[in-house]
Amino acid sequence: IPKTDAGGGPAVAYPAAKGMSVASLTGPTSPRPGGTVRRYTLDARTATITLASGKRVAAWTFDGKVPGPPVTAVQGDLVEVTLHNVDIAAGVSIHWHGYDVPAAEDGAAGLTQEAVTPGHSFVYRFLADQVGTYWYHTHQDSNQGVQKGLYGSLVVAPRQAKAAPTDLTLPFHTFGGTAVIGDHDGVETRSAAPGSPVRLRVVNTDNVTHRFTLAGAPYRLVAADGNDLNEPGPLTRTALSLAAGGRYDLQLTMPSASVALLADDDRSGGLRLVPGGGKAAAPPDTTAWPDLDLTSYGRPAAQPVTSSSAFDRRFTLVLDQGLSLSGRTKGRDWTVNGHTFPDVPTLVVRKGDLVEMTVVNRSLATHPWHLHGHSVYVLSRNGDPVTGSPLKLDTFDIKPGEVWKVAFTADNPGLWMVHCHNLVHASKGMSLSLAYE
Ligand code: C2O
Ligand code: CU
Repeated sequence: IPKTDAGGGPAVAYPAAKGMSVASLTGPTSPRPGGTVRRYTLDARTATITLASGKRVAAWTFDGKVPGPPVTAVQGDLVEVTLHNVDIAAGVSIHWHGYDVPAAEDGAAGLTQEAVTPGHSFVYRFLADQVGTYWYHTHQDSNQGVQKGLYGSLVVAPRQAKAAPTDLTLPFHTFGGTAVIGDHDGVETRSAAPGSPVRLRVVNTDNVTHRFTLAGAPYRLVAADGNDLNEPGPLTRTALSLAAGGRYDLQLTMPSASVALLADDDRSGGLRLVPGGGKAAAPPDTTAWPDLDLTSYGRPAAQPVTSSSAFDRRFTLVLDQGLSLSGRTKGRDWTVNGHTFPDVPTLVVRKGDLVEMTVVNRSLATHPWHLHGHSVYVLSRNGDPVTGSPLKLDTFDIKPGEVWKVAFTADNPGLWMVHCHNLVHASKGMSLSLAYE
């Protein structure tokens, strides 16, 4: 039985499925026809980084940088990343968040591989088949490791279309109370030509929801968690709440005046786009802007799966805070069906199953629910079906009292983590496993 830390804390025995050998479920070794091999070497090491303001932070880094080097590819390429641990004593792995890689490449330490210890390496290989905005992060002691800086972006471009002239990937992170967008605390300013297309890829690498507002131009939310929305309409004076671990792609046409992207309505930080090197105008107060409801956004289209579909398996997960029935830990744990990891019963599926998952939040905290290896279609929230674009996500915020029904096809054999992406909660038990029988 391998060991996993379920997000942090001491390693615990993992309840493996009978006869499942994850090690054999590796990625391919060559790209698709027409694709190339994208090779990266990432050195995990401790470093003191200096933010734009001059503030110095003791960090855990990939290649001495936070965020780590952007990993990019074109659809059909083979991504090959060699992780080398220089001096992270807690160990390191790389999980490709939202990317449905073969199980042995998933980077769930203790489950799909052992954590890489100082002086050792591990090579990840997977095909860049999913287009869009994703990210990578350590999955060994991940609560501590991600907070300290072991993360970066993963962006896969379509083979045909050419990128917008301004295409920025913006991981958002909080270092000891300091908000950092990309590698900037305070304001980051970029110039963009009026009339030109702009794409902003926002990644929430923190443990809590963040609220993003864009002022100065109408924009469209074109993708959520890397998945395109169907004909999304223009938005103004509308906030976007992004789950921990989630990604939003925003698209706009650069106007002749400046544009501001704010996080949590903070006018002293965020991104400014200025036309041709001018000075950015002061952004407006966005605190009263309402939140977009994703379940009714985008042009309605036939939902690929609905609540009346013929499901092969149905699971219900109740998320709560309280004493764990398994009693393995003391105090107020974050539980799933009354238990803490690894005592939460494993979800068992068979390849090809259409699976419905109902997730109920009985606690007073929001839980950004995340599945490894599979994206889900949202069927309903609190009984209300999705009425806009089909909504495909890998991380979704379940607020206190909410009930979400989601569905996925079990098409990626292996052993997978399913957990809260508030990694503090995950490390305190709110995690379970999904196994193929
Ligand atoms: Cu981004 Cu298991 O996590
Ligand atoms: Cu949680």
